[in-house]
Amino acid sequence: MSVIPFDQREGYIWFNGQIVPWADAKLHVLTHGLHYGSSVFEGERAYGGVIFKSTEHSQRFHRSAEILDFKIPYSVAEIDAAKAEIIARNGLVNCYVRPVAWRGSEMMAVAAQHSKIHVAIAVWEWPSMFDVAQKMRGIRLDIAEWRRPDPRTAPHDAKAAGLYMIATLSKHAAERKGYADALMLDWQGRVAECTGANVLFTKGGVIHTPTADCFLDGITRRTVIDLAKRRGIEVVERRIMPDELASFEECFIVGTAAEVSPVSEIGPYRFTPGAISRQLIEDYTAEVNPKAKAA
Ligand SMILES: Cc1ncc(COP(=O)(O)O)c(C=O)c1O
Repeated sequence: MSVIPFDQREGYIWFNGQIVPWADAKLHVLTHGLHYGSSVFEGERAYGGVIFKSTEHSQRFHRSAEILDFKIPYSVAEIDAAKAEIIARNGLVNCYVRPVAWRGSEMMAVAAQHSKIHVAIAVWEWPSMFDVAQKMRGIRLDIAEWRRPDPRTAPHDAKAAGLYMIATLSKHAAERKGYADALMLDWQGRVAECTGANVLFTKGGVIHTPTADCFLDGITRRTVIDLAKRRGIEVVERRIMPDELASFEECFIVGTAAEVSPVSEIGPYRFTPGAISRQLIEDYTAEVNPKAKAA
């Protein structure tokens, strides 16, 4: 694959309040965040130069850190401004935005109460897939062996780096079998979400989606639920067991990276991307695009 490694790109990164050349945004190997997973991050997209729901992402960034018992040393407004500044400095318009915060190197043990908190924001070009016909073919998902943990064993509502360990394992296993991604069940065996996106289904014109009680209640998920309701589509958030997948007609995953992406298969179950998926792809595209929204 001819992708340029992420530490060897051109441009600038916002690093603890300074803008530094991309290659200089480094940290030491003895960093608490690396050894003990004390790191939280965000994934956002800018469309036409404007980050969709920037402040909601910055607020979640703060909340994730608080859940991990640390405080981001920049206000939500400062993070919003820093994101806009680094996008402009890199001359980007449609891009992905990755704020990350972690505990530094002052203490290298499980406890690190007084470690410095570092924050960086990187941005890179990542055009969204606006080709609806292509999307409507749907993606294929496997069912992961790893399960989303019991909320008493992991802080599920933080966007914490450590939670992605099982996501990477699940996605790797799925990719090795030729699937695009994996659907994860939760600790009780209920349908939960994908490795980096939430999942919704349709039956008889109604949307059904798992209750977000042990996985990330994504900003895209909430946006798409609102868009569906604005169209008069009923949305039911409830417990969904895997054997019910056979009774659903459409399925789509939603997330900042995935946007609204129809699904054609989950393991042995088949879905036909249809009118609701298409409508929500169009509505989401209009919602995130600042010009379309203003029109
Ligand atoms: C595990 C997981 N679930 C759901 C989502 C969707 O969240 P959002 O729509 O806020 O991007 C993401 C992406 O951030 C994710 O990583």
